[in-house]
Amino acid sequence: MSPGEVRAPDPAALREAAALLRARQLVAFPTETVYGLGADGLDPAALAAIFAAKERPADNPLILHIASADQLDAIAQTIPPAALRLAAAFWPGPLTLVLPRRPVVPPIACGGLDTVAVRVPAHPVALALLREFGGPLAAPSANRSGRPSPTLAAHVAADLGDRVAMILDGGPAIHGLESTVVDCTGAPRLLRLGALTREAIEAVLGPLAADDPGSAALRSPGLRYRHYAPRARVVIASTWELPRIVTQLRAAGERVAVIVREAEPGPGAATVWRVPDDPEFVGYARELYAALRGLDAGGVGVIIAESVPERGLGRVIMDRLRRAAAR
Ligand code: TXA
Ligand code: MG
Repeated sequence: MSPGEVRAPDPAALREAAALLRARQLVAFPTETVYGLGADGLDPAALAAIFAAKERPADNPLILHIASADQLDAIAQTIPPAALRLAAAFWPGPLTLVLPRRPVVPPIACGGLDTVAVRVPAHPVALALLREFGGPLAAPSANRSGRPSPTLAAHVAADLGDRVAMILDGGPAIHGLESTVVDCTGAPRLLRLGALTREAIEAVLGPLAADDPGSAALRSPGLRYRHYAPRARVVIASTWELPRIVTQLRAAGERVAVIVREAEPGPGAATVWRVPDDPEFVGYARELYAALRGLDAGGVGVIIAESVPERGLGRVIMDRLRRAAAR
């Protein structure tokens, strides 16, 4: 096997992957949200390798992945009732809980905080790898820091192929957006919007505290950094104004690509990436990062992305588009 090889997740590959992880190597694996860059979650040297490979700031903590909620006790000091209700409702699934950490969790996993982020992923390959490995796996999204999260094994290979021991290929990620992060150390608070909608969480817990982006960034260090950004400039446009903006930017000599759901971009766009037009924005969510990466690879100068209404996954798509557009 050569380093960074993309492998089908058969039993032999899973056994090799677990052995590599025990030897403090990095293995990228599929989850239902995005691909993760996995390492032994309790080994400081293995964890340090994640930060080096991603070129990730040391104060940006990692998520520990476990095979089942039974393993939560071993890493979390206390599990408040709200956390238990969320875990019962949404695990395995795209929900990350922030809880007080036990001393067994190395500080490097937690960016020096006294809390730990945990989730049970809902992907058969991730769960099989976790069981084969037998302990928690730390796994940030398997992209270079600041790039869009990978939703295909090929995205991981492009960003980190020379820096991982193996990439397990589970096909396209089902959600295409990262997990939703909820701080459960006090009154539950949303730290990062993700594949699990605010509406779904509020259906279990009742209304959450209003968004407070400033303090969320303090408690969830990852939110401070520029994110999800392709090389091309990203411009957000409403369905009706998008054709005009295409024309304007073309007139200014730009190579323009568009990501559209309903909009008709007109004849000027160099490349059109049309996402599925379902009412809950599931298709847009699934394809957003692949579109940003794919259009970027085509060498366009500007990507004009159609906006969506701010409800359900639409809110999350708009959050990611704004971060991608921020310079
Ligand atoms: O869907 C996902 O969550 C993917 C897959 C691979 O599971 N992982 C992922 O990890 O997106 P990453 O490292 O790209 O994002 C982790 C987020 C960051 O915003 C980080 O700041 C936050 O979780 N986080 C982690 N530990 C935390 C903690 N102890 N307190 C507050 N925020 C934390
Ligand atoms: Mg990430």
